[in-house]
Amino acid sequence: MKKALITGITGQDGGHLAKLLDEKGYEIYGIIRGQQNPKRRDVEEEFPYVKLIEADLTDMSSLVRALQIAKPDEVYNLGAISHVGYSFKDPQLTFDVTGKGPLNMLEAIRLTGGEKTVKFYQASTSEMFGGLDYNRPDKGYNEDALFHPRSPYGVAKLYAHWITKNYRESYGMFAVSGILFNHEGERRGLEFVTRKITNAVARIKLGLQDHIELGNLDPKRDWGYAGDYVRGMWLMLQQDKPDDYVLATGETHTIGEFLDLAFNEIGIDDWRPYVKQNPAFMRPAEVDILLGDPTKAEKVLGWKREVDFPGLVKLMVQHDLELESRK
Ligand code: NAP
Ligand code: GDD
Repeated sequence: MKKALITGITGQDGGHLAKLLDEKGYEIYGIIRGQQNPKRRDVEEEFPYVKLIEADLTDMSSLVRALQIAKPDEVYNLGAISHVGYSFKDPQLTFDVTGKGPLNMLEAIRLTGGEKTVKFYQASTSEMFGGLDYNRPDKGYNEDALFHPRSPYGVAKLYAHWITKNYRESYGMFAVSGILFNHEGERRGLEFVTRKITNAVARIKLGLQDHIELGNLDPKRDWGYAGDYVRGMWLMLQQDKPDDYVLATGETHTIGEFLDLAFNEIGIDDWRPYVKQNPAFMRPAEVDILLGDPTKAEKVLGWKREVDFPGLVKLMVQHDLELESRK
């Protein structure tokens, strides 16, 4: 039985990955932070097979202890301050958790003698590209595209990406960086734009609210389904050699297009009367367009996303209609 240690077990991807690894027969350990984490009960209820270990990515000694307890074959580092807008408000903490956290984990793996035995996955991001030095405008960003992060989050993730590569090159570690474009779904936090929209749409349909306040509606994103993306993470760690891969759909859509489909799902053709713009949700610097090229992952890993854009919006709205009508 293989053993996996997941940081970020309380997050969106942590939940999808726990389910996948359980189906594959793994013994699963999850890192949970804080003295009284309110999400602990949810994880214990939904994933009773996950063994929780108290630790924090900013505290290397706690990571050493977690590795000594779990003795994992695979470490999936999904923990991060992951909200781009929030990273402008707390840039130093973002660097400590999102940038330095992966370094702490890599060092903890070495200190516990795992550098030749433990496989390490780093949750890298399309935010590292940033949408400015856009050298492949037609085909989208691939593994060779230029980086130009536009937020403290993107900059911290770029450090984590390079330190992961550096540990692979310096110590021969099986350390991979999965450069994932936006992925969403029923587990997505309500602070991200897609889930904020689908939850509001459900509440508008049920008469629980009458409008939604959003920031910039012009940016375009390459949105896929999180369940498909955790499959790609797992595949990256099953290869003979460590390497970096982009996971994306190869399509990009505006927030307006997401609003069109979400409101259509509840029978509303024109969302404009229901959407107000609020500058509080604007960012000091924006990533205008993200489009990914997953060719390498498709060829080498045999990875292919299964859920398309309309399917994604539909499943999220339907999930939120059910959730909100149960409250
Ligand atoms: P998420 O839902 O925001 O989850 C983030 C997780 O990180 C939570 O479990 C959180 O725990 C944990 N965390 C925060 N601070 C921590 C700390 N100091 N020590 C240990 N854990 C900590 O994020 P997600 O959407 O699942 O994304 C997973 C990873 O992929 C993240 O690293 C994200 O940056 C990256 N990524 C995401 C996407 C995407 O579109 N979803 C795309 C590319 C890359 P609490 O619950 O205790 O706060
Ligand atoms: N969150 C949010 N809330 N975003 C809004 C809003 C709003 O009210 N209004 C407009 N937006 C715009 C943002 O300015 C951004 O251009 C776009 O919607 C998407 O925002 P998010 O859903 O917060 O996602 P993100 O693209 O910034 O970051 C997500 O994807 C990255 C991968 O590209 C996060 O999951 C990151 O952790 C991930 O790395």
